[in-house]
Amino acid sequence: MKGIVLKSSGETAYENISLNPPNSDECQISLTHSALNHRDLWIILGKYPNIKFPVILGSDGIGSMCQEGFIINPGLLWGADPTHQSDKFEVLGMPTNGTFATQINIPTNALFPKPSHLSDIEAAALPLAGVTAYRSLFTRAKISPEHKVLITGIGGGVALFGFQFAKAIGCQVWVTSGQNLKLQKALELGAEGGSLYHDEAAFKSMAKEVGGFDIILDSAGGSNFDLLTKQLKPGGTIVFYGAGQGPITHLTAANVFWKQLNILGSTMGSPSDFSEMLLFVEKHKIKPIVDSVFPLQDFQKAINRMQDGEQFGKIVFVH
Ligand SMILES: NC(=O)c1ccc[n+]([C@@H]2O[C@H](COP(=O)([O-])OP(=O)(O)OC[C@H]3O[C@@H](n4cnc5c(N)ncnc54)[C@H](OP(=O)(O)O)[C@@H]3O)[C@@H](O)[C@H]2O)c1
Repeated sequence: MKGIVLKSSGETAYENISLNPPNSDECQISLTHSALNHRDLWIILGKYPNIKFPVILGSDGIGSMCQEGFIINPGLLWGADPTHQSDKFEVLGMPTNGTFATQINIPTNALFPKPSHLSDIEAAALPLAGVTAYRSLFTRAKISPEHKVLITGIGGGVALFGFQFAKAIGCQVWVTSGQNLKLQKALELGAEGGSLYHDEAAFKSMAKEVGGFDIILDSAGGSNFDLLTKQLKPGGTIVFYGAGQGPITHLTAANVFWKQLNILGSTMGSPSDFSEMLLFVEKHKIKPIVDSVFPLQDFQKAINRMQDGEQFGKIVFVH
């Protein structure tokens, strides 16, 4: 089989790999499509814990066995407690060989039926980002239709699923981005308004006009986090699943306790979150927003696009 192997920090290659027979709890499936997550880029850049070499990268994938199609849950060994993952939890693609390959050995319980309204390309875009957005908003932040929601960095894979999920239940949704073009695209998809995240004055003025947000979904962290929490209504919730802009350097404690705010962290999701997310996507006929499609051999072009922050939605590979 062929796949994208991380050979050392910053060095990947598309090469022939031999695959062992599956273990007794696994099956071997042929992968037809996969999708890129920011996690893959962090791993290549060496900005991820416990990196090992060589490994086949990739967390998202769809494939088939005996002519039956499957979508893969990339969160392995969640454990019994729905409130948090076990210490054995791992994400497909590091340290276990991942989905950027033509075949994979995968635990049978990680295989789920593909939502029937999705094309193969759309289905491949869904797993990791979809379950992260779903757990953040529904399991953790308890989103409901009357909530006014802010999604930061709307160009991202998780952010766009968060946007689509919140819209699907009837929420009003505002967005931020680093680029006006992405704000424009979000407005076309039904955002109530948007502002650039580097323009503090414009952001504050948007939040003032809204009257504050009930829920903010964020993956940036960094020095802007405090500013975000100040735009929450009393009793509001900020749920974050990443810290792409680095550590949260400041938090105005009085703002948090006086306004009775909730600050929640979230990571991927349990098998229940994953299967509920698939049902939700099927019920609301949500179609993942696909930015671009590359042959797997053109992996580096896809990585460059993500590293340059050009994408609006998911970058998908055809194998
Ligand atoms: N904990 C988890 O389970 C989990 C799961 C998935 C992702 N993550 C993390 O979440 C982050 C996003 O992942 P992804 O796969 O969705 O990435 P992605 O598709 O590459 O998107 C990158 C995101 O970063 C946003 N961004 C960049 N600079 C920003 C800033 N200063 N303020 C706000 N947003 C900013 C971009 O917004 P624009 O494009 O609009 O500028 C875009 O939403 C990554 O750090 C990833 O590691 C964590």
